[in-house]
Amino acid sequence: MNEESLAATACAIVTPGKGILAADESNPTMAKRLAQIGQESTATKRRDFRQALFETAGLEQYIAGVILFEETLEQVTEDGRRLSGILESKGIIPGIKVDKGAHPMEHSPAEKLTKGLDGLAARCVNYRASGARFAKWRAVIAIGDGIPTDDCIQANAGALARYARICQEANLVPIVEPEVLMDGAHSIETCYDVSVRTFRIVFDALKREGVGLRGMLLKPNMVVSGKDCAEQADAETVAALTLKCLKASVPAEVPGMVFLSGGQSELEATRNLNAINSQGTYPWALSFSFGRALQHSALHAWNGDNGNIAAAQAALLHRAAMSSKASLGRYSPEMEKPA
Ligand code: 13P
Repeated sequence: MNEESLAATACAIVTPGKGILAADESNPTMAKRLAQIGQESTATKRRDFRQALFETAGLEQYIAGVILFEETLEQVTEDGRRLSGILESKGIIPGIKVDKGAHPMEHSPAEKLTKGLDGLAARCVNYRASGARFAKWRAVIAIGDGIPTDDCIQANAGALARYARICQEANLVPIVEPEVLMDGAHSIETCYDVSVRTFRIVFDALKREGVGLRGMLLKPNMVVSGKDCAEQADAETVAALTLKCLKASVPAEVPGMVFLSGGQSELEATRNLNAINSQGTYPWALSFSFGRALQHSALHAWNGDNGNIAAAQAALLHRAAMSSKASLGRYSPEMEKPA
C-alpha cells in the first residue's frame, strides 16, 4: 500500500470545482435506464451511450473521475479505442464499481447486504492493471417499520471496511458508499438519525480494519426528507442537517465527500449541493458523484439515436458545469438554460 499515492489520488478526485460522473450502472440497472427511452439494453447500446458521455468536449473542466462498470473498463469503440483510454487522454481518472450488488438479508429480507468480497483482492489487482485508480462499493440502508436493524448496518459497515482495506492494498482509492435510501414517507429528522448512526458505525469499522482515512473518499447520501413524506425540507434545511450529520460522524482526515444524487432530480441535487457549500468551510471537500443527476437529461437527449450525440453531450456538459458551480457554492437557478 502506498499511502502517499492513495492520498494524492483521493485529493485529485476532489480538486476544487470537480467531481465524479457515476456511470457504473450494473447491466440490470442500465436496462431500466434504457427502457425509459424505449431501448433494449445491449452491450453496443450501453457502449454507445457511455462513449458519447466520455467524448464530451471539455468534460475534464468539471469531472475529475468516472466510475465504470466492469464491462466498460474492458470495452472498446468501433475503431478499437478503449473507453477508459478516452478518459485518460483527458486527464480524467477511471474508477471501477467492485461490489456484486445488494442482496436481501437472510434474517431480515426487507434489508440488503452488499456482496462481492469473494475473490476481491485478485480482481482489484486486475482492475488496477487495466487502468482503474479508484473503486466504489455501495451499501444500501433502507428506512421503514423497524428498520434499519443494527445487524444490517453492522454487516454492511463490516463489508465496506473489508472492501476498503483490500482496495488500498491494491493501490486503489476506495470510495465508501453507505447510502441511506430516500424511499419512504419518513421525515428528514429520521433520515438524519439513521445517517448519523450509519456513518458512525461505518467509521468505527474502517478504523478497526486499519483503513487509511487520507486515502479514501466517503460517498454519502444528503440528509433529505423521504420521497413520500408530505413535508419536503427546503435546500437550507437539507444543507444544515447534512453538515450537522457529517460533523458528528466523519473524521477530519477524510479528504472529501462526494454526494450521490439518490433519486433527487437534477435540479434538486444541484440546489442542495450548492446550499451545502454555501454554509461555511469544512475540513473536507464537499463535491459530487452523481449518476442520475448528471445523466438524466443526456440520456433523454440521446434517446438511443447516435444522431443525437451532440445534444446528449451538451446536456451532460451543462449538468457537469452546474454541479461544479454547486460544489463551489456558486450556483444559482438562473444559470440553467431555458429548456
Ligand atoms: P445516483 O446519483 O443516481 O444515486 O448514483 C450514484 C451512484 O453511483 C450510486 O451508487
